[in-house]
Amino acid sequence: MIQFDHVTQSYDDTVALRDLNLTIESHELFVLVGPSGSGKTTLLKMVNRLNEPTSGRVLIDGEDVAGRELNELRQHIGYVLQTGALFPNMSVEQNAGIELDVLGWKPEKKRKRVRDLLSRVGLNPDKFAERMPSELSGGEAQRVGIVRAMAAEPLMVLMDEPFSALDPVSRKQLQDLVLQLHEELGVTVIFVTHDMSEAMLMADRLAVMRKGVLQQCGTPAEIMAKPANDFVRGFFLDRAADSRYLSNIVDAGFGERISGDTESVASSAQLSASDTVVDLAAAFHAHPGSSVRVGHHALKQEDLIAYLASIAVERNGEEAAK
Ligand SMILES: Nc1ncnc2c1ncn2[C@@H]1O[C@H](COP(=O)(O)OP(=O)(O)OP(=O)(O)O)[C@@H](O)[C@H]1O
Ligand SMILES: [Mg+2]
Repeated sequence: MIQFDHVTQSYDDTVALRDLNLTIESHELFVLVGPSGSGKTTLLKMVNRLNEPTSGRVLIDGEDVAGRELNELRQHIGYVLQTGALFPNMSVEQNAGIELDVLGWKPEKKRKRVRDLLSRVGLNPDKFAERMPSELSGGEAQRVGIVRAMAAEPLMVLMDEPFSALDPVSRKQLQDLVLQLHEELGVTVIFVTHDMSEAMLMADRLAVMRKGVLQQCGTPAEIMAKPANDFVRGFFLDRAADSRYLSNIVDAGFGERISGDTESVASSAQLSASDTVVDLAAAFHAHPGSSVRVGHHALKQEDLIAYLASIAVERNGEEAAK
């Protein structure tokens, strides 16, 4: 169990964290989510003492980390950064085993452990062990970073926006990988992201942060059902809007079907069914009063409003039914 007890972090002219209280249970996959500058990294780094709080305490299983011997503390805590942060002059196998060197593992045992984990994350050791970091894709480098963090069987792993530099496909694969490793190894994971969709997908529980203040903590379902305030609600709405595609509007029966003579529709923009309602709103904003073509349909501004209103009606109905 990790407890943040009235934790504050001040710099000269900024308060990065303000009187924060939070408990993370052992074996949880806990996500810290919030916009840039909200204090997520500051909080995460207090666990392995890369940051010392200005006031307050951080306790692991009831013991203040401030009193722990630094190397001994960090032996039990894996750390994964946004970019793999691999040493460029060391091979994949050397990078992945670096924690085990520090712990004095025998070469044969170390080799076996590293190669086993490389296979587990989908990197064939015969192919990848001798490669240098410059010969890896971003996703492969992050996999090596994950192996390195997990190699010494840590009690917990801290991950600071580990996938934010990756393309959507690699990102999805690595999200699944972390979920799977978390389940198999039962390790506590604290995962930082500024992406609400990623937070919802990954989290057992999550904490929403803003300007150094904890806004809400709970399971994804709890937070979605009862956002604590307008900020948290807004964070969700952004996500809901982003995941509404124009195909949804057309499928719901909005807009006018264009038959035969498409020229008769005075449309100034064309979007595809996989664009989102946000793109549609932007097109209307740029060309007020005109319609937008999506495949064989023409959408007017009123259609967008009617569609969004139908979601509100649907959602209020669900609330009322609870
Ligand atoms: N060493 C420092 N000195 C002064 N201010 C700092 C320092 N480290 C962080 N801050 C400030 O503390 C606040 C929180 O920073 P932090 O890095 O924790 O945010 P974050 O939520 O991780 O943001 P991001 O999503 O951009 O990584 C910011 O306003 C930042 O400018
Ligand atoms: Mg950060």
